[in-house]
Amino acid sequence: MSDRITQLRTDFDRELPAVTTDADATALRDRWVGRKSGLLTAEMKTLGKLSPEERKTAGAQLNELKGYVESAIESLQAGFAAKREAEQLVSERIDVTLPGRRLSGGHLHPITLLRQKIEDIFVSMGYEIEDGPEIETHFYNFDALNIPENHPARSPQDTFYITDQLALRSQTSTMQIHAMQKRRPPLRVAAPGRVFRRDTPDATHNPMFYQVEGLLVDRGITLGDLKGTVEEFVRRLFGPETRTRFRPSYFPFVEPGAEIDYTCFKCNGAGCRVCKGSGWIEMGGSGMVHPNVLRGVGIDPEEFTGFAFGLGLDRLCALMYGLDDIRLLYENDVRFLEQFR
Ligand code: DAH
Repeated sequence: MSDRITQLRTDFDRELPAVTTDADATALRDRWVGRKSGLLTAEMKTLGKLSPEERKTAGAQLNELKGYVESAIESLQAGFAAKREAEQLVSERIDVTLPGRRLSGGHLHPITLLRQKIEDIFVSMGYEIEDGPEIETHFYNFDALNIPENHPARSPQDTFYITDQLALRSQTSTMQIHAMQKRRPPLRVAAPGRVFRRDTPDATHNPMFYQVEGLLVDRGITLGDLKGTVEEFVRRLFGPETRTRFRPSYFPFVEPGAEIDYTCFKCNGAGCRVCKGSGWIEMGGSGMVHPNVLRGVGIDPEEFTGFAFGLGLDRLCALMYGLDDIRLLYENDVRFLEQFR
């Protein structure tokens, strides 16, 4: 028996160096001292067949070998655990001397920046800023604005209808009606907001865009007041040298109506790429509020007169920032927007 135990120890010592992982160590333990099929466990079971003296020595030797096997495996496992921990410490090391990461803050969209600038100008000229619905009835979209029954603006090809009574507003001029219904003249209101038209998107069109509407109604207001106000507005927006011109035009809700141009903010009228060589940039429409519109909201056109003007923000924004495609403004591409910090 004694020889046999010596042999077992030699076998174990030979197997030990092959153990390189935790799994190997567990397998080696099962093989040698596993409760069911361990080699030493089986050996213990044969002790019963020995004589009492032999059993005593062999039992002691076997127990000693078992202790040897168990502690050899344990110290291997302890080595593995220590190695794992050391590796983890290296891989999870943090360099506390590195500079921290700066949080990237948000900022306003270029259209919002322009809108706020325009609102500030209106406020400085005594106007109140008003917000209004984007979905309107026929009354606000067309009837109250003196837009005739057969006008193309009413066509579903130009306007987004929701039902046959409701549509997305196609101009902020609807706000003229809300403003005059809410308060009595004298009044000065500016209304920025989104408008919607069934245009195919391209570099200069988008089905949703931004306008600002200005409206003033009081006693004795004339075309001279409109011109003076627009001139001042444009100077505050683009600089004191900016000049303005009015071209007669037709809009159903004003009479007379005019389109407004201003001298190019880039070349100051000399002609450049921004104004396509003409020296002038189109700003929007304007005119004296039509008597029918005043009458429609219960204001006597014999007593009060007023003017209105409206401008688009998107093309203006594109010109100011040198964008060659207004769609960039709506795509919310952070790489683009980040440039307006
Ligand atoms: N709402 C017009 C448009 O979208 C622009 C406009 C024209 C506004 C004349 C006005 C105005 O206030 O008086 O084309």
